[in-house]
Amino acid sequence: MRKYLFIIGLFLTGKNFGQVQPAGNVTAVKVKGQQLLFTMQYAVGEVTVYSPTVVRVRLGEHALGRDFSYAVVNGPATTHVAVNQTPEAVTLLTDSLKVVIARKPFHVAFYTLDGRVINEDEQGLNTSWINSFVTTYKHLQEGERFIGLGEKTGGLNKRGSAYTNWNSDNFGYRTDKDPLYATFPFYIGIHHGLRYGIFLDNSWQTDFNFGASNNRFSSFGAHGGEMNYYFIAGAHVADIITAYTGLTGRMKMPPLWSLGYQQNRYSYYPETEVMRIAQTLREKKIPADGITLDIHYMDKYKVFTWDKQRFPDPAAMSAKLAQLGIKLTVIVDPGIKQEEGYGVYERGKKAGAFIKYPDSTDYTGQVWPGWCAFPDFTGVKGRAWWEKEISKYAGDGISGIWNDMNEISTWGQKMPDNVLFNNEGESATHLQMHNVYALNMARASFEGYKQALNRRPFILTRSGYAGLQRYSAIWTGDNRAEEDHMLLGVRLLYNLGLAGVPFTGMDVGGFTGGASVPLYVRWMQVGSFNPYMRNHTAVNTKSSEPWSYGEQALEIVRNYISLRYRLLPYAYSNFYEATQNGLPLMRTLALDYTDDAAIYRSAFENQYMYGRAFMVAPFTGAEGFGNIYFPAGSWYDLYTDQLIKGGQELALPLTMSKLPVYVKAGSIVPMQSLVQHTGEKPSDTLVLHVYAGGSGSQFMYYEDDGSSYNYEKGDYYRRRITYDPASRQIVLGKVEGAYVSEFKYTKLALHGFGEGELTIGGKKAGSEMEALLAPVSKFDPQGEANEPEGHTIRTVTVSNGQEEMILKY
Ligand code: NOJ
Repeated sequence: MRKYLFIIGLFLTGKNFGQVQPAGNVTAVKVKGQQLLFTMQYAVGEVTVYSPTVVRVRLGEHALGRDFSYAVVNGPATTHVAVNQTPEAVTLLTDSLKVVIARKPFHVAFYTLDGRVINEDEQGLNTSWINSFVTTYKHLQEGERFIGLGEKTGGLNKRGSAYTNWNSDNFGYRTDKDPLYATFPFYIGIHHGLRYGIFLDNSWQTDFNFGASNNRFSSFGAHGGEMNYYFIAGAHVADIITAYTGLTGRMKMPPLWSLGYQQNRYSYYPETEVMRIAQTLREKKIPADGITLDIHYMDKYKVFTWDKQRFPDPAAMSAKLAQLGIKLTVIVDPGIKQEEGYGVYERGKKAGAFIKYPDSTDYTGQVWPGWCAFPDFTGVKGRAWWEKEISKYAGDGISGIWNDMNEISTWGQKMPDNVLFNNEGESATHLQMHNVYALNMARASFEGYKQALNRRPFILTRSGYAGLQRYSAIWTGDNRAEEDHMLLGVRLLYNLGLAGVPFTGMDVGGFTGGASVPLYVRWMQVGSFNPYMRNHTAVNTKSSEPWSYGEQALEIVRNYISLRYRLLPYAYSNFYEATQNGLPLMRTLALDYTDDAAIYRSAFENQYMYGRAFMVAPFTGAEGFGNIYFPAGSWYDLYTDQLIKGGQELALPLTMSKLPVYVKAGSIVPMQSLVQHTGEKPSDTLVLHVYAGGSGSQFMYYEDDGSSYNYEKGDYYRRRITYDPASRQIVLGKVEGAYVSEFKYTKLALHGFGEGELTIGGKKAGSEMEALLAPVSKFDPQGEANEPEGHTIRTVTVSNGQEEMILKY
């Protein structure tokens, strides 16, 4: 009956079932503060100003539904908006934008205040529906480039490509595979010196077309639900990411240990094997903080159980590992074996925690343990049950939770469309919930485990949706031990960074297959400059621990992991920055050199920044020459301090022992002495490297206890460091926060500052010339002279006080 009424309704309203249905002309407009409510011939809409640079557009064929999002956690801020109505259009003016909404037909255009088009609907196409599919078409601007969209294959510039978001398991995926595991429907468009972001917050399958069909339009759309997008303007790409994470939230400080090196394999067992790995890491002086247990730790793959033959006393094992400075992370899958007597399942069943068919029977699918039910993470009942179950790991001394298979992945069976999810009390089908399932699993794991540990948990997930950064780190799944995969991995990570997710990693060394020695070495070097560094490999592959590829590889890999540890103060401060403004550690060059055409060339698109200071050029080849592009400014060779002028490409010699890394002139880089794990205290001197040149920079140095949430109550140590070449000074700002720094002294290591007089607080300061231990030593097969390849620089050491300190040069 309802169906007939619907069809009659369509007939009466003139809607075209099965045809392209536009929104039509605006018939009424209501102004409600910062919001405009539109009635169109065939649709309704809302345009809401969230801030002077963020505007939300919401369109539906019928009345708009519940305004709810799993991604967006912050609503509109009160801001000044002027509305002007004419018979042709309604215009909104904010402090930064002009939005013109034409009435005949409904058409949205965003302009700068001086009238330049940033983004506008494509005339004649605008927004339309084909049954429940909704798409917005945007005019393709001349020379427009597109970046972002999270975990997406392809090049840096996505112009000419089309993508789908439908979270999918992809064992050993091809380097052009789409979709992969996670959905981030947020991209940035760039043209004529302008940039903007579009975030399509719709959890159904979404499709993006970046001029893949023609040179007329780009488009984005969804297979159901509303057209619901946020337009974000910004003078810089960084501003757009900050505004986007203003909507979708930012990460919290991660536990410090999770920045250390993590050793994985599928799977380490029994306990003696885990202990052997831990001890070997220590014996071979490979700094490391974590080992991860894959599915074989469980009793027949049943989540929240232990195989007691392999691991008779997990808590005792964790304690032994803790003495070696190693933390354990365990894998959990959403599949809960349907087995009577399996308490986890029985409690879940009793709690009504599982997703169901419309006839109230549990949906089941087959995965590692056999036939399984699946928790409904989209509702309070499912999450509460999971949070309780997961808390038991705290008693086993587990520090991290690795969420896998959460797309949901099952063996061969397709999950039917009619599986129902709670959706926070408004039941929804699989079609609507698929892409947000993993986000909510990560959320339940984070919230449950945070409470159980009463300190920061480390959460890792394979799948996810926009907003994931609030709960979890992400890795890019089952890559292959192939050169293209290492480079693709770099692009996936920086794309995730553009989507507001700073804590990212890939299976370093490759998951399937086995790497060659040079590829392995390169990958471990690149991994040392990734936010999350985890070496992982599949079952039945060659071992991938740092000692598995021979003495030379071991030596080089040790050098780079050690460098990672010496850079921990830098990385940790960068994570702090991510908690404040959403900016990632691993950055495409498009973040700062947005309008430089060279960085988009396939030869250079894999180069990236690690924080603001380091540019990494990840070549796969170990020997020969590599072309490196140096963007504007000047760059120091990390190993020799040789200064290279920017704005040029150079063919430079490559060797396996050195990953090409350059420091941007003007940078500030804090480093500490080498430790074997983050629980070990470094020496009492923080070394602050300052590289002369450019327009200088600012660095927010940050410390806290690395594990609790006390920093949220002011227990942190924060100091702004400013290098200003114009006034020839380096300023260590007044210390903020209640935490006492681990370091008593700061040694300023001055690169390229010459030999002129130095003063501190107006008094002449003594300095030394020091041969700095270079980050990389030369490999000597005889093991005799492991000479550091250093360079001499000038250093000044000062005691750390609370007050501002000014060094003039
Ligand atoms: C798939 C994951 O992507 C992989 O990392 C893991 O080792 C296997 N599942 C086994 O749990």
